[in-house]
Amino acid sequence: MVENTQFMVEVKNLVKHFDEVKAVDGISFNIKKGEIFGLLGPNGAGKTTTVKLLLGLLEANQGNISILGFDPEKDEVALKSRIGYVSEEPLIYKSLTPRELFNFIASIRNLNGDDVSAKLAQYLESLGAIEYYERLISTLSRGNKQKIQIIAAILHDPDLLIMDEPLAGLDAKSVKVVKEILELHTERGGSVLFSTHIMEIAEDICDRIGIINRGKMVAMGTFEELRHMAKDIDSTMDLEDIFLKLTEQDESIKDIIKKLRITMKSTNGS
Ligand SMILES: Nc1ncnc2c1ncn2[C@@H]1O[C@H](COP(=O)(O)OP(=O)(O)OP(=O)(O)O)[C@@H](O)[C@H]1O
Ligand SMILES: [Mg+2]
Repeated sequence: MVENTQFMVEVKNLVKHFDEVKAVDGISFNIKKGEIFGLLGPNGAGKTTTVKLLLGLLEANQGNISILGFDPEKDEVALKSRIGYVSEEPLIYKSLTPRELFNFIASIRNLNGDDVSAKLAQYLESLGAIEYYERLISTLSRGNKQKIQIIAAILHDPDLLIMDEPLAGLDAKSVKVVKEILELHTERGGSVLFSTHIMEIAEDICDRIGIINRGKMVAMGTFEELRHMAKDIDSTMDLEDIFLKLTEQDESIKDIIKKLRITMKSTNGS
């Protein structure tokens, strides 16, 4: 298999239906080496479905995915060592302690030696995770589970990190540390697919962003490019307004709040 050196990830015309729901409806994007690409969109936009298609966890109805020249549906095994995944759901190995989980990961990924131990110790220390290293994962707080999941995804130095809402539940200090971890990852040529529904997070972390709504890519570019695009669409609006408009959340918000107030006031007898 010849590896494509220009793009780490190439997605063309990806389609995934769940019965009549078009969760992903003809999406295309590329991720370069060393780039953090953000999938930004509201709840139900199709971010997690896209992520699962890239991981080969779901089968596409149409389209092409290439990760380092491999097809995730056919070459799952070859890609396993090259990808790290942080899922939107909490960690599954709840009956293990972090120590047992990392021992397990080290054995299945063949991670041995002082380098890996030193790296793991440093990640644990940086994220303040040492104090609960011997506790069952099921007893940890949501944010602390998330930290363990992030370390588990990056410990083997994957080429591509796929992170579905990775900062959800993390405190401010841990967000800073994770951002630094991502920067170190891209400095050594790694790429990231980062999904979020929060624009400020996408702006802060991602080099390029694809705005996704109802399974379609409605805009794509660097933040500066999107800002220019926003000016072209309507010079009086800022990017946040444009994002809400592109994802059809602008008018409906006012309407929802108005209706909510009317109903609540009338049902409260006032
Ligand atoms: N297994 C499934 N069966 C049926 N419909 C599904 C399934 N998984 C996702 N969907 C639907 O596909 C659409 C996209 O869902 P997806 O989980 O990809 O959204 P998302 O952008 O990740 O949203 P969120 O921000 O809430 O995580 C939604 O309408 C969802 O209900
Ligand atoms: Mg999701």
